[in-house]
Amino acid sequence: MNDLPPRTAALPPSPFLRLTALLGTTPPGEPPIALSVGEPQGPVPGFVAEILARETAGFSKYPPIQGTDALRKAIAGWLTRRYRLAPGAVDPETMVLPLNGTREGLFMAHFVVVPERKAGGRPAVLMPNPFYSAYPSGALASGAEPVYVNALKETGFLPAYGELPAETLERTALAIIASPSNPEGAVAGLEDWKTLFALADRYGFAVFADECYSEIYTGATPPLGALEAAQRLGRGFERLLVFNSLSKRSGLAGLRSGFVAGDPKLIARYRDLRSNAGPQLSGPLQAVSAHAWGDDVHVAANQAIYRANFAVAQQELGNRPFFRMPDGGFFLWLETGNGVATAETLWRTAGLRVVPGAFLANDAGIGRTRGNPGTNFIRLALVNAEETTRAALRRLARVLPGPGT
Ligand SMILES: Cc1ncc(COP(=O)(O)O)c(C=O)c1O
Repeated sequence: MNDLPPRTAALPPSPFLRLTALLGTTPPGEPPIALSVGEPQGPVPGFVAEILARETAGFSKYPPIQGTDALRKAIAGWLTRRYRLAPGAVDPETMVLPLNGTREGLFMAHFVVVPERKAGGRPAVLMPNPFYSAYPSGALASGAEPVYVNALKETGFLPAYGELPAETLERTALAIIASPSNPEGAVAGLEDWKTLFALADRYGFAVFADECYSEIYTGATPPLGALEAAQRLGRGFERLLVFNSLSKRSGLAGLRSGFVAGDPKLIARYRDLRSNAGPQLSGPLQAVSAHAWGDDVHVAANQAIYRANFAVAQQELGNRPFFRMPDGGFFLWLETGNGVATAETLWRTAGLRVVPGAFLANDAGIGRTRGNPGTNFIRLALVNAEETTRAALRRLARVLPGPGT
């Protein structure tokens, strides 16, 4: 069949396949250290095995697609506690839906909010550039045009949607924000949310807040969340959905457990869609998840791993002109110049596997600059144990010397 529909032909290529092709058969200069994949490497919390052992019988049953009451209550409780929401602001019955990780939701929820046409044209989905691959995939699969808005240093490493032409904003069905963002680790503040909500209300589009890095942060105060911002601005949750998961918060990326919460109208439609086409989260995993959302102790242990790594980064790279401490997430986004050449050099001379920034972004970016905003950057995932991170960053500091070295 050579006449496949073009929708799925335009999906972004995998940055990891591009990295493998770039490094090819070049041998590493030293024993390899991977800083490429953002996969937690910490220990699995002890309660996981205990609860699974207790709940094994549940594997023989079809689990409830809308999640157990216990899980939805635990999620609503966490949201209320974490974001200081008014009691009852998140109704676990109507405003929370468990998912197989945020990736599922960030893709599938497009079908809930993207119409056939908007303002007489093809609907647009605004997304940050660099982006997470589920965003353009969801936009394209739902028939929308993905609009890649460059997240630049000049705009606080967040996309400035308010600077887009009115013609684009009128066609916009959905705007996606990741906060903390991947790869830049930028966090949206109250003013950013105020601007975005004003645009969403003026042009009638939905907002998806990808908050899966919300519990990994470098400062003293946890990052502001979209529901929290909406409450503080007195806006309500209309056309707003937030996505979060246990992948980073609890270091349980393989559990595939997340949720979407927000506008009950959107949640109801998504629940109907999932009832027909969505994957259930198995019963025993729902029991583990309910416990995890109710417990903050294991999260503190997990956060300590990243804090230690960021302290190492400050010590080893703090005097380099390209160093920037992110506000959140577990990546370093370093402006080293020519990211492809830097990644190749780091591998060939020091055995370090890092991702060129250009591989994480689209060449068709728009905004204050056009083109690929990642060209001069590399991304490092600080997910390894402290001593491995230190060894890696020492090697990097040697290959990319700073002033006076
Ligand atoms: C920005 C961003 N959003 C969403 C996800 C998906 O995470 P999960 O499906 O494990 O919740 C990731 C995973 O790396 C990510 O980096």
